[in-house]
Amino acid sequence: MASHSTTPGAAADVFRVRGGTPLRGTVSLAGAKNSALKLMAASLLTDEPVELEQIPAIADVPVMAELLAGLGVEVALDSDGGTCRLRAADPHFHAPAAAVRRIRASISCLGPLVGRVRRARLALPGGDQIGARGIELHLQGLTAMGASIIDHGDELEIIATDLHGAIITLDFPSVGATENLLMAAVLADGTTVIDNAAREPEIQDLCRMLVAMGANIQGIGAPTLEIEGVERLTGVRWETCPDRIEAGTYAMAAALTGGDVVIERVRAQDLTMPLIKLRAAGVMVEEGGSSLRVKAAGLDAVDVVTLPYPGFPTDLQPQMMVLLTQAVGTSRCTENVFESRFSFVDQLRRMGADVQIDGHHAMIRGPVPLHGATLAGLDVRAGAAGAMAGLVADGETIIEDIHHIDRGYADFVPRLQALGADIERVRADA
Ligand code: EPZ
Repeated sequence: MASHSTTPGAAADVFRVRGGTPLRGTVSLAGAKNSALKLMAASLLTDEPVELEQIPAIADVPVMAELLAGLGVEVALDSDGGTCRLRAADPHFHAPAAAVRRIRASISCLGPLVGRVRRARLALPGGDQIGARGIELHLQGLTAMGASIIDHGDELEIIATDLHGAIITLDFPSVGATENLLMAAVLADGTTVIDNAAREPEIQDLCRMLVAMGANIQGIGAPTLEIEGVERLTGVRWETCPDRIEAGTYAMAAALTGGDVVIERVRAQDLTMPLIKLRAAGVMVEEGGSSLRVKAAGLDAVDVVTLPYPGFPTDLQPQMMVLLTQAVGTSRCTENVFESRFSFVDQLRRMGADVQIDGHHAMIRGPVPLHGATLAGLDVRAGAAGAMAGLVADGETIIEDIHHIDRGYADFVPRLQALGADIERVRADA
């Protein structure tokens, strides 16, 4: 991963994008951000080495590595090689606040710490400003497993000397809560049932790695997970699952620009709903063993409703919205997962998009010509969607705050350039 000024506040780089070039060629993807970070946290569950492969070269990974090192974990991260070797011989419970506050995934250390050392103390996590992002479901579940929660104001401490199994029904199939309760339960006394559990492919990847470490988990991929606690877990070598959100982003960029792109190292079954919607919009999608070919000639309006997996992923909503600005007709996009994930719309309107918001529905009229503008990269996905809009806009688009994009997309600019895009990373004052 090339050295970039990705830290917020540093003299920033920006992306400069010029529209008009259909994307063509092949892009090969690494592992999923939203799995890799949790697999790294799961290393806290064993005193044996955990060797992870296909670790994406994204900015959140070194932050998670720093956080785990702060907990006493030996971490050897080879970003270029895409591997990470971790060993938590004797982790302690108090997480370094600075690293915790920089990423949302830091909260994923809570469950494994409670499972392994029966105690955890950490600040509230950082992450994208796309909603309230509470953690009460995590805490309610841990309380049901015998934990007590101490609020220190800027940090929470969870003590679970007598961590035991419990029957937990989640109000909402939260990804983070499911992961934390799962990782506490694998070393708890007795059986835990998580009802209305999240079943995203990244959760399934975590479950399968835990089973490879000796955990006893039934119902992987189903709405109910049943976990029989065990004494200890072993080490493992594991390959991170492909990044379906990165794949969906490139697929939509190809369709948006009227291009023809092959995406390698992708599992089509992880993208069922987005592919249904792309095909409904008139996009040609060919599925290969571990690749997808996406080719577009014209786009039709479709309605999209974001929901927990296997529904349409909220992490592809901004990208799909950009695509729908170029579709013939009126599309309705409904956001059901994060209450403020339409903050991106103002950015699109600056480029001339016709989007009307009505509560958690957005009405998108198209096709409307977009023109270049200066956009703020609000968060990981909105940032990538802004760059996509620049690929079809008339003139030049500048994307600021690109540290957000670096957090979730490895080598975004070189990969798009390899597909023919006119995009470059330049200093803001260049
Ligand atoms: C994960 O966030 C992902 N992040 C998000 O991806 C993704 O959008 C989200 O899952 C949904 O798929 C990581 O894995 C690091 P949730 P998470 O708990 O775990 C509410 C990206 O772009 N909720 O499923 O935070 C919450 O406020 C990021 O890569 C509570 O109210 O998601 C939200 O509205 C963005 N209380 C909804 O549930 C709780 O205790 C879904 O949250 C927990 C969640």
